[in-house]
Amino acid sequence: MRSVLVTGGAGFIGSHLVDRLLARGHRVVVVDNFFLGKRENLADAQAAAGDRLVIRYEDAADAVAMREIVERHEVRDVYNLATKALEYSFDNPRGAYEVNTSIALTLAELLRKGHYERLVHTSSSEVFGTAITRPMGEDHPRNPTTTYAAGKAGADLALQSYLRSFDLDIRIVRPFNNYGPRQNAGAYAGVVPKTMERLLQGQPPILHGDGSQGRDFVYVEDVAAGLVAVAECPEARGGEFNIASGRETSIRELLDNMVELAEFRGEWIREPRRTADVDHHIGDASRLAQVVGFTPPTSIREGLARTWDWYSSRSGVSGVSR
Ligand SMILES: NC(=O)c1ccc[n+]([C@@H]2O[C@H](COP(=O)([O-])OP(=O)(O)OC[C@H]3O[C@@H](n4cnc5c(N)ncnc54)[C@H](O)[C@@H]3O)[C@@H](O)[C@H]2O)c1
Repeated sequence: MRSVLVTGGAGFIGSHLVDRLLARGHRVVVVDNFFLGKRENLADAQAAAGDRLVIRYEDAADAVAMREIVERHEVRDVYNLATKALEYSFDNPRGAYEVNTSIALTLAELLRKGHYERLVHTSSSEVFGTAITRPMGEDHPRNPTTTYAAGKAGADLALQSYLRSFDLDIRIVRPFNNYGPRQNAGAYAGVVPKTMERLLQGQPPILHGDGSQGRDFVYVEDVAAGLVAVAECPEARGGEFNIASGRETSIRELLDNMVELAEFRGEWIREPRRTADVDHHIGDASRLAQVVGFTPPTSIREGLARTWDWYSSRSGVSGVSR
């Protein structure tokens, strides 16, 4: 049986995708440089799957290493999820841009030369910047505000040009804001894990600005399911697909939900808004529904409750009531 390769498979979304692929009977190869990825994210998968899961510690932009891996493991499909977190782009703007474009180009070249058959590339709703039209469809103008997002947009353009020039099987998937178990809670953490970790330690949540900034939050297992659905749908070849809930949640509402789950009653910390933060993000998920037949099923309240349970169980906190 040929393998499926996941770059960034030790990360947050990647590890859930690995779980899903293994559950569907695939042999899976993970390529991760462990910049933010963790072995523990794959521990359960490794225990259950044995030698159906191979983990390689490599830079996914390294064309020589990637060619060797793809050939050795007879890879058919590649899911590209490797990246350095958006927040990293404030420390190293050039590095954040380059990691997103260089990995995409390495994978496009291997595909063009026939080393594997299908690339499912993970873009990001960040390429759109603040919404000009709402909800944001796949053709919304690209206005990246961070170099992370610019690198994502650059990778999309490069892959679309490979697609047009060489008629390759490339599918671009664009998740909106993900949350769920295993999201990095350390350096470069996003708002959900950062806030949950603070609440678990009895610390107040931090609100940037007035909290009116809106985001379209999607539960991570829904994103993993959406990625596989796009890969498996013949009509999705050459297409771009948002994975979104189609609902905007303000940061204020998000924090309110988490504070309720934690039963926190203290004052919140207020900080100024970050200048590169986008104002509003709401995705149009109708193309994914119509072409692929997939709609993320998990509501924000259900997803946050499951996420809270996961972070709570890891902190040894019990008796979470809701
Ligand atoms: N988390 C979100 O809300 C979100 C939203 C939209 C799109 N995405 C996209 O989904 C994908 C996965 O994101 P995530 O949230 O799981 O991030 P993550 O940081 O948890 O995972 C990324 C993984 O890539 C690895 N990595 C970084 N540089 C690498 C390199 N050069 N070679 C090999 N591995 C490398 C990291 O170690 C990490 O395990 C990314 O492409 C991201 O842009 C994420």
